[in-house]
This record gives sequence, structure tokens and C-alpha cells, in this order.
Amino acid sequence: MEGEEQSPKIIYDIIILGASGFTGKYVVREALKFFDASSSSPLKTLALAGRNPSKLAQALEWAAHPNPPPAIPILTADTTDPPSLRRLCSQARLILNCVGPFRLYGEPVVAACVESGCDYLDICGEPEFMERMEVAYHEKASEKGSLVVSACGFDSVPAELGLMFNSRQWVSPAAPNRVEAYVSLESEKRVVGNMGTYESAVLGVANAGKLQEFRRSRPRRARPVIPGPPPPKGPTIEHQKQIGVWAVKLPSADSIVVRRTLSILTENPRGLPGVNESSEQIAKKEAFWSTVKPAHFGVKISSKSLLGIFRIITVGIFIGVFGKTAFGRWLLLKFPSVFSLGWFRKKGPSEDEVRSASFKMWFVGHGFSDCRLLSEGNMKPDSEIITRVMGPEIGYLTTPIILLQCTLIVLSQRDNLPKGGVFPPGIVFGHTDLQQRLQENGISFDVVLRN
Ligand SMILES: NC(=O)c1ccc[n+]([C@@H]2O[C@H](COP(=O)([O-])OP(=O)(O)OC[C@H]3O[C@@H](n4cnc5c(N)ncnc54)[C@H](OP(=O)(O)O)[C@@H]3O)[C@@H](O)[C@H]2O)c1
Repeated sequence: MEGEEQSPKIIYDIIILGASGFTGKYVVREALKFFDASSSSPLKTLALAGRNPSKLAQALEWAAHPNPPPAIPILTADTTDPPSLRRLCSQARLILNCVGPFRLYGEPVVAACVESGCDYLDICGEPEFMERMEVAYHEKASEKGSLVVSACGFDSVPAELGLMFNSRQWVSPAAPNRVEAYVSLESEKRVVGNMGTYESAVLGVANAGKLQEFRRSRPRRARPVIPGPPPPKGPTIEHQKQIGVWAVKLPSADSIVVRRTLSILTENPRGLPGVNESSEQIAKKEAFWSTVKPAHFGVKISSKSLLGIFRIITVGIFIGVFGKTAFGRWLLLKFPSVFSLGWFRKKGPSEDEVRSASFKMWFVGHGFSDCRLLSEGNMKPDSEIITRVMGPEIGYLTTPIILLQCTLIVLSQRDNLPKGGVFPPGIVFGHTDLQQRLQENGISFDVVLRN
């Protein structure tokens, strides 16, 4: 195990770091579906890494069940030990990072990947981490040829691809003005999340002020040109009659990640250059991005009942109020089930609970049937297009599906992706076959209504 980490030669297509975690073991299970040295799969060599080899071996056994665990190397690495991370990076084409909260453990992993020029994907849903990594490592990652993409999970690929899918339904001269996404989590049993996600959310709230300060210290990014006036603020609690839900604003990473992608697209209207694209790939990429129309974007969490919304608001208030002090955070993290009203558990959901859960994400787009009329003073959106992304449980099924499909794209279509840099997933994978791959793996994209 440890001894074999000396060689600087690339040995593994991917190394899954944090494979022993609750999400990590589901990522391993998903990876095993595509791991095949003898077939045409681009995933031929794989290793697991973390700080506890026996937990990693157990995770592998769990993930392979009912088959015997395959002979996959288990490597030791700790985020507090940078040389151990550099050893990993020197052996891998791509690191999949499942160690969170990312604000606590993520930076040394990004630093090691960038230093050694290896690619990096993670399942982070923490805006502050992503924004800080972009500022600190984008330039060096571009130089070194290290592609660093966070949020390759439920946070925030359904939002990124879902917005693009909706916006591409608006055929010129029609254009969207705003798209509101409504997330609905469903289950025949209970919707439950693991501590890792809960802790990341609590720490996000605790540091919300610092994030604002950080943003104020940065130059403003390019803003997309969106036809029509900015949307009105709207009520705190909304009754969305068309899809039959109540909804309240969700302070998730999604809208921030989508805005980063739209800013980068504004700066690079033809998409980002690939490291070694063919002229055919360039033409395909440019044709894709020319059909993506920016829109104001927001995300709401929804429930069929008003009571469900009051539960969500109550949990939001608990985390918002208690998350601000050290003692409050201690209480929140000591009693997750109490303060999240049962939505987060120290032991995470059972396999049955994971299997029974699913999500729907509706994208309600409002816009103009003919943008040319805007110059005549017709400022009110007159058209509506509703689209929907649906899939299995968000954290432990959808997230690994997305992460693995992004991985397979990096392994098989590297020429078509940027040489290096720190980017949100939409701008890196939007023009690839990611949506089609997700559809083939149980995540659907539909047009529901055109008005
Ligand atoms: N994008 C999404 O939609 C999405 C979905 C699910 C999860 N997530 C995120 O994924 C992260 C993990 O969540 P989780 O519920 O899986 O958490 P978890 O069960 O606590 O797993 C954390 C993992 O990190 C490892 N780890 C912790 N400290 C480490 C260190 N110093 N060096 C190396 N490894 C270390 C742990 O190793 P040990 O086993 O040795 O403790 C474990 O493997 C969270 O940030 C969560 O928000 C995002």
C-alpha cells in the first residue's frame, strides 16, 4: 500500500479520495459499474484513497456487494499531510474528491492537483470554497494544465444543465428573461441526508459574512445581457399553481454556480477553448453555446403542502440563528436530527431510504416570444416554457451518477475540454454529451409546457 506510492509515474485513471465517507462509498459503487480494464471503458485503472485503510477496504467491500471486492489498490493520504496528497496526484490522471466539508479539507487537495498538473473533480456544494479556489488557483491551474471543477454532483449540475436545457428551448426571436427552478424532494419513506452535508451547510451559514466580505474585495465579473427588466422580488412564500407546489427561496450553491457559468460564457461567447480540439469539435461547441440564452436564475425548495414549507423555514431559522455562535453550532452538530426535524442523521439514510427517494426540479421560464418588440416598449414577458429534470435520490445516487459521467468525459474527451483552470461544471461540460449520458443513467430532461 504505502510503499508503492513512491513512483511518480501515472498509474491510475482516477483515485477516489474520501472513498470511506458516506457519499464516497456510493461513488465507489457507481465507479465499479464502469471499471473494466478489458473493455472499451475509459476507466481501466482505479485506486481508493483516504486516511484509514481498513475503512476504505470496508467501503470497497460494501460497494462491490454482492460480488467479491475487486483487486483495487488502497492508498493512504490525509489532507493534513500535503506530501501524501502530492504522492496521490503524481500517480493519477484525475482525483475525485469526496472529502468534506470542503472549506475544512478541500484546499490542500486542490493545491496538490494544481501543483502536479493532474485534473480534479469534486462534489462540493459550498460557494465560498469554490470562489476562493478560483481566485487562488485559476491562473496556476491554467499554466499547469490542471482542470479543476467543483460542484459535479446534485450541487450543481442539474441546475446548470437544467437552465441550459430550458434556455435552449427559446428559439430566436424568442428569449427567456428569468428561469425559476423549483426543487422537490420526494420519498415513499423519509428524505434523509448524512452529517457531511449538514455540517457543510451549518459552516456555510456561520461564515456567510466572510463570503460577502470576500466578494466585495473582488472585481465584478462580466454580467450577461438579458432581455427585459430584472424580475420582481416576489413573495417569500410562493404558491406555484402550475406545478402544484408551495415554495420558498433555497440559499443553495446552485444559483451562484449558474451565475459563474453565465459570466464566463459572457466573457467567452463561443465557449472555452479545448486543449486540442478538432475543427469539427470547435464547430459543434460553438453551435451549442450560440443557442444558450442567459436568464435571471433563482432556486426555490418546494413542497406539496404549506406545512412542508413551514418545516423547511423552521430548519432554516434553526441553522440561521444557531449557526452564528460557537455554542449554537455545537448544538446543531450534536443533535442534527432534532434541529433538522429529522432531515439529517449522524448515521445517514438507510439503503432503503436512499432507494426510495427521488427528486424533481422544475424550471419555469418566462420570456418574450419576440425580443424585437422590446425596443417598442413591450416590457412584459409574454411566454412561458416549463421544463423538468428528474432523477433518483440526490446525495448518494444522483451525485455519484453525475460525478462518474463527468469523470468518463474527462477521461475520454480530454482534448475537447480546457487545458486547465478552475471552472464551474456548466461551462466545462455544457457542450459535451453530459446531458445525454445523464439521461442514459436515470436522470431525465423533459419539456413540460410551452405557452
Ligand atoms: N454535491 C452534492 O450534491 C453532494 C452530495 C453529497 C455530499 N456532498 C458533500 O460531500 C462531502 C462529504 O459528505 P459525506 O456525507 O460523505 O461526509 P462523511 O461521511 O463525513 O465523509 C467524509 C470523508 O472525508 C474523509 N476525511 C475527513 N477528514 C479527512 C482528512 N483529514 N484526510 C483525508 N480524508 C478525510 C473521511 O475519512 P474517514 O472515513 O477516515 O473519516 C470520509 O471518507 C460534504 O462536503 C457534502 O456536503 C455533496
